[in-house]
Amino acid sequence: MKLTTKLMAATALVAAPAVQAAELEVTHWWTSGGEAAAVAELAEAWEAAGNTWIDGAIAGSGGTARPIIISRIIGGDPMAATQLNHGRQAEELIEAGLLTDLTEVAEANNWAEIINPPSLLEACTFEGRVYCAPLNIHSAQWLWLSRDAYETAGVDVPNDWNEFVAAAPALEEAGIVPLAMGQQGWQQNIAFGDITVAIAGVDNMLAVLRDKDADVAAGPEYTAVFEAVATARELARDSNVQDWNLATNMVITGQAGGQLMGDWAQGEFQVAGQVAGEDYECLPGLGLNQVLDTGGDAFYFPVIDDEETRAAQLEMAEMLVSPEVQVAFNLAKGSLPVRGDVDLSAANDCMQKGLAILASGDGILPSGDMALSQDSTIQVEDLMAEFWSSDMSAADAQERYVDIISSAD
Ligand code: GAL
Repeated sequence: MKLTTKLMAATALVAAPAVQAAELEVTHWWTSGGEAAAVAELAEAWEAAGNTWIDGAIAGSGGTARPIIISRIIGGDPMAATQLNHGRQAEELIEAGLLTDLTEVAEANNWAEIINPPSLLEACTFEGRVYCAPLNIHSAQWLWLSRDAYETAGVDVPNDWNEFVAAAPALEEAGIVPLAMGQQGWQQNIAFGDITVAIAGVDNMLAVLRDKDADVAAGPEYTAVFEAVATARELARDSNVQDWNLATNMVITGQAGGQLMGDWAQGEFQVAGQVAGEDYECLPGLGLNQVLDTGGDAFYFPVIDDEETRAAQLEMAEMLVSPEVQVAFNLAKGSLPVRGDVDLSAANDCMQKGLAILASGDGILPSGDMALSQDSTIQVEDLMAEFWSSDMSAADAQERYVDIISSAD
C-alpha cells in the first residue's frame, strides 16, 4: 500500500465513522496513459476509505465527453460525480438546480482561505453558494520539446517560439515533423491561444477574451498572431494524428520537434519514463512571455435524491481537496495543486517552473473557459478546425475571428 493510501485509510477511520461505505459513479475524460495513472490515484484514495469507485471514463476529448455528461444530468440519468473544467461549463446546470450545493464542505474545510488562486473557488461559486470542488490547476501555454529530435537534426534545442520556427528547416531535412498537432479544434485552439499570449501579449489577449474588444481582435497585434498560426500550420503539415496524446507521443519518440499543449502532456512523458530537462524540455509562455493560465479541472456532484448518496458526494468533495490527494493526483497528472500548503518538492523541473510562475503571482491568467461562454469557445474551435485543415488565409481567419468576438459572451 502506498503511503498516501495508508494515510487516507487512517484519516477515514478516524474522521468519518458516520458515513456509510458508498458506491459512486464518476465520469471524466481521462483516458490517456498519464491521465489514467492520475485518476487511479483518486479511485485508490476513495476505495481506501472503504468506498467503491465506479469508473465512468468517456473516451475522446472533453469536447466529446462534456455533451454526454451534461445530457445525462439534464436527462435524469445523473452520475454521482463528474469532472468538468474550471469556468463556465456548469453555469446552466447550477441555475437549473441540478448540482449539489457543497457550501458546508467548503466552509468546514476553509476553502475560502486555502484554495489558491481564489479565482478557482469563485468559478465554483454561484450566488454565494459553492457547487464544485477544485481539483487541479492546468495551464495551456506550453511548448514541449524533444531533445532527441534536435540532437538528430544537429541544432540546439530552442529557447523560445522564434528559435523553434527558425530551427524547423533543419528538422524537416532530418525527416522530423517540426510541430506535432492533433487534428481537433480544441487542440488547434490551444495552439492559437498559446501563440496569442506569446506574441500579442497578455493585455491584448485579455482585451479580446475578457472584454470582448473586437477592435483589438482586428488590430495589428492579432494580425501577427494569425500569421504565426499560419506558420505553425505549415510546420505541422506532416502531422497526421488526431488525439493529443498521440501528438505528445511523436515528441516522446523524437518523430516531432515539439507540441503546443497543456501541462497534462507531462503525464505522458512520465508514463514513458522520460525526465524533464534530460529527455524533454518545456517552455511556459513559449519562452517569450512567462505566463500561465489557471484552468484545469473541478468536480461537480449532480443532485441525486438520496441522503446517503448526498453524504458520500460531500465526502468525495472533501477528499479531492485533501492534502494527500492533492499531492498524489497532481504529481501523476502534471498539474499543480489548488492549495499552496502542500509539499511538492517531488515535482519535476517543468512543474517547478509552473509553481514558480504561480508563486510569483505575476503572469497568472484566467483560462479561456473562464472568460468565454461555451458557445463562443466552440465557435472559435470550429474556426480553428477549419483553418488548420484548409488553406484559409491568415487574413480571412482574422476577419472571421473578429466576427465571433463581436457577438461573443
Ligand atoms: C483538459 C483537462 C485536462 C486534460 C485535458 C486532455 O480539458 O483539464 O485534465 O485531461 O483536457 O484530456
